[in-house]
Amino acid sequence: MKQKIRKAVIPVAGFGTRMLPATKSIPKELLTIVDRPVLDYIVAEAFASGIEHIVMVTGRMKAAIEDHFDHAFELDTSLRRNGKDAIAEALSKDVPSVGAMSFVRQQEAKGLGHAVWSARHIVGNEPFAVMLPDMLMVDSEPCLKSMIDIYDRHGGNVIAVEQVDPDLAHKFGIVSLAEGNDGPLITGLVEKPAPGTAPSNLFISGRYILQPEVFSYLESQKPGAGGEIQLTDAIISLLGSQEIRPFEFSGRTFDCGSPAGFVGANLHMALGRDGVREAVLEEIKLYEAGHRH
Ligand code: UTP
Repeated sequence: MKQKIRKAVIPVAGFGTRMLPATKSIPKELLTIVDRPVLDYIVAEAFASGIEHIVMVTGRMKAAIEDHFDHAFELDTSLRRNGKDAIAEALSKDVPSVGAMSFVRQQEAKGLGHAVWSARHIVGNEPFAVMLPDMLMVDSEPCLKSMIDIYDRHGGNVIAVEQVDPDLAHKFGIVSLAEGNDGPLITGLVEKPAPGTAPSNLFISGRYILQPEVFSYLESQKPGAGGEIQLTDAIISLLGSQEIRPFEFSGRTFDCGSPAGFVGANLHMALGRDGVREAVLEEIKLYEAGHRH
C-alpha cells in the first residue's frame, strides 16, 4: 500500500542574494506579492493539496517567518478594540492549526540538498513533498495536488517540470525523459547544461515528491555546483533504483527570488484583484504616454 503524502518541506534558509538589498534584514520569503508574503501562497498550495504538516527549514535572520505563522496577540487585541474584528478574523484564519507546522534550523546555508536533509528527523521514513518557496506556481488546480494525484496512481517520485525556451535551457536544471510502460519517466537530470547540449526543453521548476531514501544519498553527498550540497545530485543517485515521473506544469510560474519574476508575480496578482487592477492599468497607461517623472 502506498503511503499518503502528509508532509511538505519548505526550505527558507537561503540568503536571497538576487534580491539584495531587500533581503538584507527581511527574509525573501516574506516579500509581498501585492499585500501577502509569497510564502503564504506556497503554504496555501500545500494545505489545498492535502498536506497535513509543513516543515519549514529556517536559519538565522528568519525568525520573522515563525512569527508570521503565529497568533499576534497584541495586534489581535488592538484590532478588536478598534472595531476591526473582520480583519482580526481574517488574520487568525491564516494561522495553521496547532502542531501543523514545525521549524528546524539549517544552521549553515550549505545548499538546497542540505536544507532538505535538515528536515529528515521530522519527515521520518515516509515519502514527502519539497516546495521551493520562491517559485510561485499559479493554476486552477494546485501544482502539488496534481503531483500527488500522479503519486497516488504510480507511487515512486514525482518532479514538476516546465517548458523552457531552448536558448535559455543552459540556466536551468534540465531533465531527460523516456517512455515507460505507463507514461513518461525521468531518466536523467543535468544542472545548467552547456549551451546547445540540453537533453530536452523541460526544466525542474520547484516542486518534488520524494521517497525517504533520498536522505541517505544527501547524507553522503559531497558539495557540487557552487560548493553547495545539491538536491539534484541526490535525485540523480535515486534514479538508479527508483522511478521518477515528470508532471508537466502548464500554469504560470514566477521566480519571486529574482527582481523580474517578483515584479511579474506582483503585476499578475494585482491585475487579478478588483480595486488594485484599475490603478495598475492607469499607471501603465501614464507610463506609456510618457509621464515618467
Ligand atoms: P535559492 O538558491 O533560490 O535561494 O534556493 P537563495 O540561495 O536564497 O537565493 P540566491 O540565489 O542567493 O538569490 C531555493 C530555496 O532554497 C532555500 C532558499 O531559502 C530558497 O527558498 N535554501 C537555499 C535553503 O533553505 N538553504 C540553502 O542553503 C540554500
